[in-house]
Amino acid sequence: MLHRCITAFVGLCLCAGPVSAQKLDSLLARMTLDEKLGQLNLLSAAGENGRASNDQIALARAGKLGGLFNVIGAENTAQVQRVAVTESRLKIPLLFGLDVIHGYRTTFPIPLGEAASFDPEAAQATARAAGLEAAAAGISWTYAPMVDIARDPRWGRIAEGSGEDPYLGSLLAAARVRGFQENIFATVKHFAGYGAAEAGREYNETEISERTMREIYLPPFKAAVDAGVASLMSAFNDNAGVPSSGNAWLTDTVLRREWRFKGFVVSDWTSVAELIPHGVAGGPSEAGRRALTAGVDMDMQSSIYMDSLPALVRSGRIPMAVVDSAVMRILRAKQRLGLFKDPYRPRTAPAMDSTRALARRVAGESIVLLKNDGSTLPLDKNTSAIAVIGPLADNKPEPLGPWHTMGQPEDVVTVLAGIKAKVPATTQVMYAQGSGVEDTSTAGFAEAVAAAKQAKVAILVLGERGEMSGEAASRSMIGLPGVQEQLLEAVAATGTPVVLVLMNGRPLTIEWAAEHVPAIVETWFLGVEAGNATADVLFGDVNPSGRLPVTFPRSLGQIPIYYNHRNTGRPFGANNKFSSKYLDIPNTPRYPFGYGLSYTTFGYRDVKVTNPRIRATDTLVVSVTLTNTGSREGTEVAQLYVRDEVASVARPVRELKAFQRVTLKPNESRTLTLRVAAQDLGFYGLNMKRVVEPGAFRVYVGPSSAEGQEARFEVVR
Ligand code: BGC
Repeated sequence: MLHRCITAFVGLCLCAGPVSAQKLDSLLARMTLDEKLGQLNLLSAAGENGRASNDQIALARAGKLGGLFNVIGAENTAQVQRVAVTESRLKIPLLFGLDVIHGYRTTFPIPLGEAASFDPEAAQATARAAGLEAAAAGISWTYAPMVDIARDPRWGRIAEGSGEDPYLGSLLAAARVRGFQENIFATVKHFAGYGAAEAGREYNETEISERTMREIYLPPFKAAVDAGVASLMSAFNDNAGVPSSGNAWLTDTVLRREWRFKGFVVSDWTSVAELIPHGVAGGPSEAGRRALTAGVDMDMQSSIYMDSLPALVRSGRIPMAVVDSAVMRILRAKQRLGLFKDPYRPRTAPAMDSTRALARRVAGESIVLLKNDGSTLPLDKNTSAIAVIGPLADNKPEPLGPWHTMGQPEDVVTVLAGIKAKVPATTQVMYAQGSGVEDTSTAGFAEAVAAAKQAKVAILVLGERGEMSGEAASRSMIGLPGVQEQLLEAVAATGTPVVLVLMNGRPLTIEWAAEHVPAIVETWFLGVEAGNATADVLFGDVNPSGRLPVTFPRSLGQIPIYYNHRNTGRPFGANNKFSSKYLDIPNTPRYPFGYGLSYTTFGYRDVKVTNPRIRATDTLVVSVTLTNTGSREGTEVAQLYVRDEVASVARPVRELKAFQRVTLKPNESRTLTLRVAAQDLGFYGLNMKRVVEPGAFRVYVGPSSAEGQEARFEVVR
């Protein structure tokens, strides 16, 4: 029901709620200024054990609260909702928000990991399940999906998004919005450009041109709006001096006028108050005025709208019409969610068996095989002795990742447990922790080396703690932390073949491993089924199909590095000193966007453009024959990139425009048809208007952003 309603939200809500538009108007007409500003007031639960505090309950009773977040559990949300709908003068229900980022209790892979699946249907399914679990706990509104494009792995929040590509990011944004909104409202965040934090330092300023903003950073937000997202969250960053939580160009011109967004905008945590340290407001009233008039409807946690705006409205410095518009957006959202009719929204959580099965499947799809020399993987389940080593090998909390809401370590299957469950009793599995994640003690090395010496293969599970990525988790060095690399080198020196299983929330620089370790598997933070999904891949029950949603640099000095860069006037030339390059490292990344291996191999042939001369209103049709040339069934992610050869504005060397996940049996071939609307070849021209310019294009179809068969086409007038 909610889903139908939300899908239609961009136009008209189909839900015949008990409160009609006229009734909302008359409700507004009856509200005092305090009650109006109360609807714009959002606070984090300040009571014990996930409850609202007494002060907050009093605010609800006085009609001075629009919603609460971080109230945990259906009983606690019902307690305060009851006060709002039975004891307040106007009986307006509250919204209950929570950061349900990649699962509520059942923790799924972090969004960056899930993005590696290149599977929007999977992302929709996990969001749906997370939304239902959250709804059963009284939650009506999540602060997800985070859709910030990120090109800098030093920035810890790269873990929460879909990586560097606006096309993949847009598909996943829309899918997650649809998934969440089957049960609760979604919030697409952080509007906008927050992922471009300079030097990867959290909360730092950004300097994004309007063209790059529109072409790279905004598309996933637009996709979410088109999918009917209920709310947007304004970001912490300032772009070129204009903080996002007081940026009328973003929250009014683009969002409401161009995109016709009908939902509401919530600030990030105290980001209204932060207009003061940003230096664009001299005090709370000015900060509140600036944010509200820019189009930020709801004030998260600053209490500035509630406390400081009444005087400004009374004196006419803020027109009542501005307040009324914001209030109506909140009331309409509550109506659309059905809260007036059903303020408690009782729901039943899905059975954990089914969510765990989904978690295992999606975790398996999220794993990326980075290297597999000499077919080291998959391992034989009957290997006589296996050493499982590393600080993350038998670790329950860390696979939950940086933002696991109600995820519990006790629910996690560790990699060691997953491996033990996979192999027969005759296989000896030896475990040694070896080191901590960050500490510098090498005292455990000897035990690890001894285990490796006795084993036929050593599996090292290394990486980051969950909280080393996510919010406020920027790193200046992105190698393996602590002494883990030394541990890896010490184990590799035994001569026992090594499989490196990475667990982390960002691309890491792993040059030594990439050169010396035969097999490397990227597992991100996979959630509760981390161990089972990893073992599924290590032993070949699942053939890896994940592809990198973000570039892995060779070294820190290459950052920012991303596949859809422009060519420059002096592109790399091996024999040309005066070309764009470094003296000490190649330009190329260690692993490019879109890259990932399989236990089988795929061949691409006969890339053909069916209609090599298209008009701006046409759809480009490209066919390619894909063959599984190896000996196992496997899934390939066939990727289509374009390059606009000559345009009025320099275009990226490649842009992803389509992809298909295709499963083929050994020797099976299939001719795929990939389509790109010519409109999607457009860009923002010299006058900053979107244009599809006539001219020659190249199209590449292949297994990553760095490979592919080429064909040509032309856009004609
Ligand atoms: C984060 C948001 C989050 C909010 C509420 C902020 O610190 O930036 O992403 O939704 O807190 O928890």
